[in-house]
Amino acid sequence: MQITSKLRLTLRSAALPRSVEDLLDVARRGLSSAPSLKEALAEKILAEQERVKALKKEHGSKILGQVTVEQAIGGMRGIPCMLWETSLLDADEGIRFRGYTIPELQEKLPGAAPGGEPLPEGLLWLLLTGEVPTPAQVSSVTEELRSRSALPNHVKALLGSLPAGTHPMTQLAQAVLGLQSGSKFAAAYDAGLHKSRYWEPVLEDSLDLIAKLPEIAAIIYRNAYAGGELIAPDPALDWAANLSAMMGFREHGALELMRLYQTIHTDHEGGNVSAHATHLVGSALSDPYLAFAAGMTGLAGPLHGLANQEVLRWIQHVTREIGESPSKEQLREFVWATLKGGKVVPGFGHAVLRRTDPRYTCQRVFAQKHLPDYPMFKLVSDLYEVVPDILTATGKVKNPWPNVDAHSGVLLQYYGITQESFYTVLFGVSRAMGVLAQGVWSRALGLPIERPKSLTVDAMLDRVKGQ
Ligand SMILES: CC(C)(COP(=O)(O)OP(=O)(O)OC[C@H]1O[C@@H](n2cnc3c(N)ncnc32)[C@H](O)[C@@H]1OP(=O)(O)O)[C@@H](O)C(=O)NCCC(=O)NCCS
Repeated sequence: MQITSKLRLTLRSAALPRSVEDLLDVARRGLSSAPSLKEALAEKILAEQERVKALKKEHGSKILGQVTVEQAIGGMRGIPCMLWETSLLDADEGIRFRGYTIPELQEKLPGAAPGGEPLPEGLLWLLLTGEVPTPAQVSSVTEELRSRSALPNHVKALLGSLPAGTHPMTQLAQAVLGLQSGSKFAAAYDAGLHKSRYWEPVLEDSLDLIAKLPEIAAIIYRNAYAGGELIAPDPALDWAANLSAMMGFREHGALELMRLYQTIHTDHEGGNVSAHATHLVGSALSDPYLAFAAGMTGLAGPLHGLANQEVLRWIQHVTREIGESPSKEQLREFVWATLKGGKVVPGFGHAVLRRTDPRYTCQRVFAQKHLPDYPMFKLVSDLYEVVPDILTATGKVKNPWPNVDAHSGVLLQYYGITQESFYTVLFGVSRAMGVLAQGVWSRALGLPIERPKSLTVDAMLDRVKGQ
């Protein structure tokens, strides 16, 4: 009898990996194009599986927190109910990626040049393995991504066929879904892959997708703002620099900004809309393309990733109404007018943070170094002095300080990337690294389908009766 390739795959995957050696063997036999990253990851997975199993066994019934009515109807703020390994957010200190702050990452992760901004490929290694990579390991990720970067023609055609004026985020989500037909996880699942090995094709899909996103973003950009004249990838450039170059920006400062931008937007623990949406959809074993597309449609909301577009529009509104160098008093009046108009001041506030976002601070430091005299930077700095007091004076805003989006647009403007409706795409390309790295871990740890409990108003009233 002839054994079909599908049956062969099923038979091969029926054996469970029993030890680190077995997992390493899987890694070595796996795609030879990614041996070092996959091996490093495989080494970590078994130990972490054991730790999570022990956590559940020994402490499974212990209490992490309680849920109040206010939390249940208030967007689930602060309810600790999700496992997310790649980063952790402290309300006062801000984000840590695998335990490292942004300044620590800038110091420890290899850059394109000594003293330069970190290469996001290094952060991807860190997010996946928990270890700071060597320069050679970072280069291997750059190579790995380059080898996976070819974009199928049907995705280019799909992007070329969308009506002019389709929002860049809508285009991004559609392009990601266009890639889904090539999902290795979906194919392996269909072929009967054992669940202990889900993480392997999820890693494959994640690397494929991350590798292709810069060209997708550049095509969206060039189609929308450069008459469809595309720029070919440059194999001599790193992942983030290539994104900038394919968009048409090769100046040293622009490349450095893109490396920093792509590093700091990757991950912000698991509860934010784009991360949680990706995580939730992935928990149904939808493949990484389907899961990430869901995350991107969430990132496209103005209270989340689209805020960087909104900030720029708001700043342009400021300069149109009161000039490029308004006084602080004029700014105060403008901010109050925004609030009285029933609108938010974009770029300020946060659901978890209670201090200035360190992602804002590192961009401010970048601006002080590269564009200290740029008038829009001065305006952003003045807003930093004016807005928090006003938001505090409203008496209801829990965090009056600026977030990541308050600064990013002005830096992009300085280097000539002036089309603010594109900004969230750059955020999305970066976010892929965080949410997909966690997606690999979610499958490696066997996290189940998510299914929190919902209640009706009557059911809530019933539960609180007599308390
Ligand atoms: C990020 C954000 C959605 C968090 O929302 P949140 O967790 O509900 O924030 P709070 O608990 O502080 O909100 C309490 C009140 O203050 C308001 N508020 C919060 N930030 C505000 C801001 N920047 N401007 C005006 N009002 C704001 C909220 O809208 C809410 O008003 P309401 O009670 O009338 O509905 C919110 O701060 C915001 O809309 N910021 C502007 C958009 C933005 O920059 N988003 C990017 C985040 S990284």
